[in-house]
Amino acid sequence: MTEPSRSTALLLNVDGLSVDYKLKGLSSRAIDGVSFALRAGEAVALVGESGSGKTTTAMAIAGLLSPNARVSEGEVRYRGERLPINDDVAMRPHRWSETSVVFQGAMNALNPVHRITKQIAEPCILRLGLSRSEATVRARELLELVGIPADRGAAYPHELSGGMRQRVMIAMALACRPSIVIGDEPTTALDVITQAQILKLFGDLRSKLNLALILITHDLSVVAETCDRVMIMYAGRIVEDGTVADVFAQPKHPYTQLLIESIPNPANGKRMIRPIPGDPPNLVNRPSGCAFHSRCPSAMTVCATEVPSLDEVRRGRVACHLHRPLTQEDKVAIHA
Ligand SMILES: Nc1ncnc2c1ncn2[C@@H]1O[C@H](COP(=O)(O)OP(=O)(O)OP(=O)(O)O)[C@@H](O)[C@H]1O
Ligand code: SF4
Ligand SMILES: [Mg+2]
Repeated sequence: MTEPSRSTALLLNVDGLSVDYKLKGLSSRAIDGVSFALRAGEAVALVGESGSGKTTTAMAIAGLLSPNARVSEGEVRYRGERLPINDDVAMRPHRWSETSVVFQGAMNALNPVHRITKQIAEPCILRLGLSRSEATVRARELLELVGIPADRGAAYPHELSGGMRQRVMIAMALACRPSIVIGDEPTTALDVITQAQILKLFGDLRSKLNLALILITHDLSVVAETCDRVMIMYAGRIVEDGTVADVFAQPKHPYTQLLIESIPNPANGKRMIRPIPGDPPNLVNRPSGCAFHSRCPSAMTVCATEVPSLDEVRRGRVACHLHRPLTQEDKVAIHA
């Protein structure tokens, strides 16, 4: 029997999205002109060093930005409809039902004094309008879907292992039948074996429910095992986007090249990105030109003054002047 064909409909279109945070009277642009599309069933990794804007991108898409954040430019369309991401009230019907988020550290997100089934049932009552008994049935189904026997729902969070609690968080994220799930470092707090089980669960749910996944991670081996496509972020911008196979085999952006080179040997069990020399730029006072130019071994004169746009190239997108025609003057190396 042939498999039924899966929809690859365009779900999300993020166009020129910029988000500013206000803190102590200072404004900083955390993400700047982020653009990408996401299709049903696709699994995309979002990778970049701390502070590069991965969580801010996720929160903006899910309508969960903190009160001191504002979308200053751009838009997010879900199935073609523009989302009112700056309007807390108008966003309510969209929140959790189209895109939901699984965070790391499930223990902090679960209420210690309520049983698991009750906590999963709650969003079903509030957002799907189910009665208490219907919501309990749905909560039990969701527990089974994430690999927890329904009767374990009588437990309190502290009675479950870290892996089980993260499964509960995934069940809660699925409560309103979203078509996009964002995992923001969803396995970081777990041991290696439990990490593998949770990633397998994400993969299984993706194929069972035709979910689109955005996985935020520092672990490039997780990207290789779980995702089709990877977007690399630096200082609030996407600097490279391509299939996992292409980006890992032939990274085009110097920052991606350093990231890939910095992956320690998986044989020694250390799989996280090693820091790249130099500091990330100050987002309150963003440097001119390419934000990576002070750390980039290939930086040229043009890099200090002109922001490289994220251009389509053969097999992907890259934001780097090395991939554009340049004059001899532009090409003079800065760090020679
Ligand atoms: N609530 C906030 N108020 C002010 N600034 C914030 C807030 N949240 C994030 N930022 C700033 O926005 C920038 C992007 O942060 P973000 O959390 O999106 O990065 P990230 O890539 O998710 O980092 P990490 O890998 O550490 O989770 C950083 O400079 C950060 O300090
Ligand atoms: S634009 Fe210039 S500084 Fe930026 S990554 Fe490319 S070569 Fe390096
Ligand atoms: Mg983050």
